[in-house]
Amino acid sequence: MAETVLVLDFGSQYTQLIARRIRELGVYSEIRPCFEPFSPELIKNCGAVILSGGPASVTSKDAPDFDTGWLECGLPILGICYGMQLLALHFGGTVESGKKREYGSAPLYLDECGDLFHGLDEERHIQVWMSHGDHVEELPKDFALLGKTEAGAVGAFRHEHRPVFGIQFHPEVAHTPDGKQILQNFLVRVANISSSWSPASFIEETVSFVATRVQPAEQVICGLSGGVDSTVAAVLVAKAVGKRLHCIFVDNGLLRHNEVDDVLTHLKGANLGLTIHAVDARAEFLRELSGVTDPEKKRKTIGRVFVEVFEREAAKIQHSAFLVQGTLYPDVIESVSAFGPATTIKTHHNVGGLPEKMNLKLIEPLRFLFKDEVRRVGAELGIPTHLLGRHPFPGPGLAVRVLGDITEERLSILRQADRIFLEEIRSFGLYDDIWQAFAVLLPVQSVGVMGDNRTYEQVAALRAVRSEDGMTADWYSFPRELLARVSNRIINEVKGINRVVLDISSKPPATIEWE
Ligand code: XMP
Repeated sequence: MAETVLVLDFGSQYTQLIARRIRELGVYSEIRPCFEPFSPELIKNCGAVILSGGPASVTSKDAPDFDTGWLECGLPILGICYGMQLLALHFGGTVESGKKREYGSAPLYLDECGDLFHGLDEERHIQVWMSHGDHVEELPKDFALLGKTEAGAVGAFRHEHRPVFGIQFHPEVAHTPDGKQILQNFLVRVANISSSWSPASFIEETVSFVATRVQPAEQVICGLSGGVDSTVAAVLVAKAVGKRLHCIFVDNGLLRHNEVDDVLTHLKGANLGLTIHAVDARAEFLRELSGVTDPEKKRKTIGRVFVEVFEREAAKIQHSAFLVQGTLYPDVIESVSAFGPATTIKTHHNVGGLPEKMNLKLIEPLRFLFKDEVRRVGAELGIPTHLLGRHPFPGPGLAVRVLGDITEERLSILRQADRIFLEEIRSFGLYDDIWQAFAVLLPVQSVGVMGDNRTYEQVAALRAVRSEDGMTADWYSFPRELLARVSNRIINEVKGINRVVLDISSKPPATIEWE
């Protein structure tokens, strides 16, 4: 990588967004926990450092701090919110707690534009997003004020002689309309970093890296689900090692209507150079899941059976030395966050202990990418858009959408309802507007009337959300005509369902999946 920006994470909910914005500006960016010790090795390709915001108060005793080596290394530094307040303290200024709180959209009154606010000269003030309880009261010696907040607090500052800047607001969020310009000014005008990241450069570097890592006699294994991440990861690795990559596609019986055929036909038809071994493990999964109704137990069972099936298949491939996983950046960051991993809400089986158990080395080519970047890389690799645009689908599949008992009959009922819902979404042209849409089969029965007969059948719930990364989500607002058609069709066409309801919960507090 030519030049990267390191973001030191002090625990802000927006830290990932900082890295994402920088990547959108064509500059590679990585997040590190705030306690990462400074080392010359770490900054070898680094052009600037950003200190993120964070939930703590710098005035509290156990406030997270950072290695002052970062300050002395001479790299340009931008402190955001908590990061700015830390800079103020380190350079000898003062921070006050609780007196000038500001939350939400607010004006920042500019005193001086200089490099950081270059291009915003016409404005006397700009609109920014604030979220702080503390503020810088006294500027450190050798610092100049760049702007004030509505409450009269220091809104932005710069060092008189060094490329060190602090801003009280969040340029990374969409509510700061000039935020991207400000970040770009920091990258280009202050840090002199030129944009170099592109899907094509990423592919070139990754392919050559994988090609040198895997020795000529070694084989590579990949669990392929047909989802965007595993497909892109597999195609990237296949470009490096060709036929030495063996993709294992496990049919766990928990996939959607026609999914196995669709995926295999599309993958094979797209000529992506993949060797795919399909395994029919439907009976095994269903047997092990029989009588399991607790959501966590379902996930754990599926995880365990998946490992067993996968190990068995992989053992047939001689000289396997590597396992490819489609781990994305958000999974990686969550596990190194400044305050330890978030509490387990759901066990995601696909990041389980497969490689250690199998004594394989890991290849995670997407480890530093966000989902939108994975799609761009996929497009550059020539993966067809209908594969890249597929909605995410959870590893445990329909098991977490058939609530309660999982039986072949209930799976089949859900598959039909789900297929109808998606067919209508597609025919209304809304598929690409939605992050994820699916039907859920509830473990209740309700009374209805069909013709002259009383019915007592199951209930399907429709779930559709918009989201940027699956971490938060809003329920999708469908036109009435679509809902009417879906409900009508499901009740008429799917034997076993006599009622359809709509899920209108956002995440948080609900999650996207029901289990
Ligand atoms: P939740 O339900 O936690 O889901 O709001 C967030 C996103 O993650 C997907 N999901 C999973 N993906 N293995 C996966 O690969 C899993 O175990 C799993 N559980 C949830 C979910 O579909 C949504 O996109």
